[in-house]
Amino acid sequence: MSKIHKALRRLQKEGGSPGKEKRSAGRLGRREAPKTVIPIARKKKIEITGEKHHLDQDKLIRLGLLAPLEHAVPVADEFRRIKRPIIDNALKHGPTNSDHMNLIMIASPLPGAGKTFCSVNLAASISLERELTVMLVDADVAKPHISDAFGLAGRPGLIDILEDEDLPIDEVLVRTDLNDIQVLPAGREHAQSTELLASERMEAIMQEMATRYADRLIVMDSPPMMVTSEAQTIARQAGQIALVVECGITTESDIEDALELMNPDKAINIILNKSLYSQASGYYGSYDNYGFNEDR
Ligand SMILES: Nc1ncnc2c1ncn2[C@@H]1O[C@H](COP(=O)(O)OP(=O)(O)OP(=O)(O)O)[C@@H](O)[C@H]1O
Ligand SMILES: [Mg+2]
Repeated sequence: MSKIHKALRRLQKEGGSPGKEKRSAGRLGRREAPKTVIPIARKKKIEITGEKHHLDQDKLIRLGLLAPLEHAVPVADEFRRIKRPIIDNALKHGPTNSDHMNLIMIASPLPGAGKTFCSVNLAASISLERELTVMLVDADVAKPHISDAFGLAGRPGLIDILEDEDLPIDEVLVRTDLNDIQVLPAGREHAQSTELLASERMEAIMQEMATRYADRLIVMDSPPMMVTSEAQTIARQAGQIALVVECGITTESDIEDALELMNPDKAINIILNKSLYSQASGYYGSYDNYGFNEDR
C-alpha cells in the first residue's frame, strides 16, 4: 500500500477523533524544514487602517463559502486543527523568510475539491489568532469566486498589479470586516490572464508579497493543479502547500500527479475535505490534515 493510500486511509479512519492536535505537520519531502529560525511571533496585530469593506456573511453561507450556523462550530473546530501546523511552520521562519513559509497555497489536483471553501475558512480561522494578520489572495483568476462572493468583482487586484508594474500591492488590497482579513482580489478580466499568472512577474510578485509582508500569513486560493499551468507558478513560490483532497472523489493517482508538480522541499499538507459527509444534515463533514513524515 502506498504512503499516500495509507495516509488517506488513516485520515478517513481518524477523522474527527481527538488528539490529532498533537501531530506535527510533517512534509511530504525528505527534508525537514530548516531548524535555524528567528521567531516572528508578534506581540500584537499589525494596525491596518482604512475603510473596511463589508462582507455579507449570509451571502457567503448561501454561496457555500462559510458553513451555515448549525455547522459553524464543528467546521471551526476542524479549521482550528488544520491551521495549527501551518501557523507553526510560518512562525518558525525568520524575517528573511527565504522559504516563503508565510505564503500558503491552497491547491487541489482537480476542480471542485473545496479550495475556495478551505481558503476562506482557513483565513478566517487564522485571523482569530490575536497576534496574526491574514491576507487572502484570490489567485484563481479564471474563476474568481472569492472576489465575486466578497462583492469585489471588477475591483483592481492581482491581474492589475501583474500588468502594471507601477501599481503597488498596497493600493489594491481591501480591508474587510471579516475579522479584519485583507483581500487581494483577482482583478479585472483580462484576455491574457493565464499568461500573466504563469509569468515571471507573478513569481516576482509572490516573492515581494512573502518578504514585504513577512509578518502576515498569506492564504492563496488557486486554480486546480492538473488543468492549469498557472497553478505551478504559484506552487513554485509558495513555502507551504495545502492540497485539498475531496473524500471519495480525488483518486490516489490524482494526488500523485499533483504532487509530482510540487517541489518536495515544500511543507505540503493534505486536507481531506468533505469527509464524514452527513446524510442527515446533507452538509459539512470533517477535515483533517496530514503531513508525510518519513518515519510515520
Ligand atoms: N466540506 C464541505 N462540505 C460540504 N460542501 C463543501 C465542502 N467544501 C466545499 N463544499 C462545496 O463544494 C463546492 C466546491 O467547493 P469550492 O468552490 O470551494 O471548490 P474549489 O476547489 O474551489 O472549486 P474550483 O476548482 O471550481 O474553484 C461548493 O459548492 C462548496 O460549497
Ligand atoms: Mg475555487
